[in-house]
Amino acid sequence: MIKINQKLDNPLSHKTECLILPCPEEKKPSGTLKIIDEALNGAISGAFKNKRFEGKPNQTLLFNSTSSLKADNLLLVGVGKTKDLTIEIICKASASASKLAEGSNFKSVSVYLNDSCFDKIAKGPRYEELAEGVAEGAGLALYHFDDYKSLNEKDGLPSRLQNLTLVPTTRSRQATLTKAIARAQKIVEAVHSARDLVSHPGNTATPTYLANYAKKMARKSKITCKVLGKKEMEKLGMGALLGVSRGSHEAPALIVLEYFGTAKSKAPTIIVGKGVTFDTGGISLKPGASMDEMKMDMSGAAATLGTLQAIANLKLKINVIGIVAAAENMPDGLAIKPGDILKSMSGKTIEVLNTDAEGRLVLADALTYAQRYKPKEVIDLATLTGAVLMALGHQAAAVIGTNPSMIKQLKESGMATDERVWELPLWEEFEKATKSDIADLKNIASPGVGAGSSMGAAFLKAFAGDQPWTHIDIAGTAWGYDKPYIPKGPSGYGVRLLIHYLENRKP
Ligand code: BES
Ligand code: ZN
Ligand code: ZN
Repeated sequence: MIKINQKLDNPLSHKTECLILPCPEEKKPSGTLKIIDEALNGAISGAFKNKRFEGKPNQTLLFNSTSSLKADNLLLVGVGKTKDLTIEIICKASASASKLAEGSNFKSVSVYLNDSCFDKIAKGPRYEELAEGVAEGAGLALYHFDDYKSLNEKDGLPSRLQNLTLVPTTRSRQATLTKAIARAQKIVEAVHSARDLVSHPGNTATPTYLANYAKKMARKSKITCKVLGKKEMEKLGMGALLGVSRGSHEAPALIVLEYFGTAKSKAPTIIVGKGVTFDTGGISLKPGASMDEMKMDMSGAAATLGTLQAIANLKLKINVIGIVAAAENMPDGLAIKPGDILKSMSGKTIEVLNTDAEGRLVLADALTYAQRYKPKEVIDLATLTGAVLMALGHQAAAVIGTNPSMIKQLKESGMATDERVWELPLWEEFEKATKSDIADLKNIASPGVGAGSSMGAAFLKAFAGDQPWTHIDIAGTAWGYDKPYIPKGPSGYGVRLLIHYLENRKP
């Protein structure tokens, strides 16, 4: 990860390969930007005049510096009108600028947190939030995964930006800045860990790998980790999770992470993640095209692990339990077949009409296990249905749950972090459609019911308990879209959303 630090310095005498200047959309530069412009003989105001640069969000302009500045190059990045400034805009602008800087082979660059964009904002986001946005945007944007490139290949990789220095305007900002950078680094690290877990192929990131990863993570922080293997799950009667894993040679794992940041007597929030480390569909085999992407079917698990890592590193004063239901879904002589009936830990029986609707099976037992903690609330994150991609594309995850206040707060956190969520209904007709003719439940509805994502949630509700519960279907947001601070591939979606939610949770 890129190293981020700060240095109080005069922008005119600040030495760097490239000085990044966030610029608002205005007729000509003002405040300290005006002073820099004058030192550059009007290079910035000239660009504004020629409309080569107007300060529109994410617009960039790179040019060589002059001898009156110690920076070798200058990079203007637009942040739009100051009255409309948001953390998201700053985060994206910082991401765009740092990617351009990396693409220009710079190794160390600085961002000048000038007064026009950071200090004088009367309304809107606070200084520390904006500064954190700069650090987060750059950190998140510069994600690379080359664990599988051999050394020879690595030599040929493009150069990487290694250092980012934030330059405040006054000494009085330094303490705030130190805090903002430290926070951003913890969050970026957690998102990167989640992305790494998803980037690893199915033959690396097996359920056992996830379990070992969780144990290692727990050792480094104030988290305790326990892993239930096949035998323990058999004892608990987790027939649904075990059923999914039966066709695989990889052992399943139920990974439990406990973080107590406040009195143990306070009921915890539980985060449950779907950890299907590869989803072939099982006997209800998926088509071959893009099946490789199903290594991402453990993105809920990755987000759960990443969130716990961030919670522990930020030392949040809350109690949170993470539960990951990890299994591989394979077709095999031992695999479950359509029509098979499984008995879940809750005692409820499930007719498996489609072995590709396996996420809800592994989650059923994890949700039942969660009840042991008498939770305050339960959130599950799962790449559960292709249907959510039809409904919302990559633009939002679906939230479906039993508690309006919880959903409202998740929506607010979604808007604040741009990890958006959109509510889909959980009507009783959907719950009725989960009833099986010969078992308690069936894992898919009869043809014609439709509403695939709501149906997934309706099934889960039977295991979610009476406390507030929300299901978040991340099949569309976990993978496969890009924006300035999210490279193609795994997004790490969920970590920033949940951290914001947990930090701002109102009772
Ligand atoms: N893992 C898939 C859902 C998925 C689809 C994730 C696309 C990411 C991208 C899930 O296990 C699945 O196969 N769901 C089925 C359910 C159906 C059989 C009721 C689906 O969505 O087709
Ligand atoms: Zn599936
Ligand atoms: Zn799946």
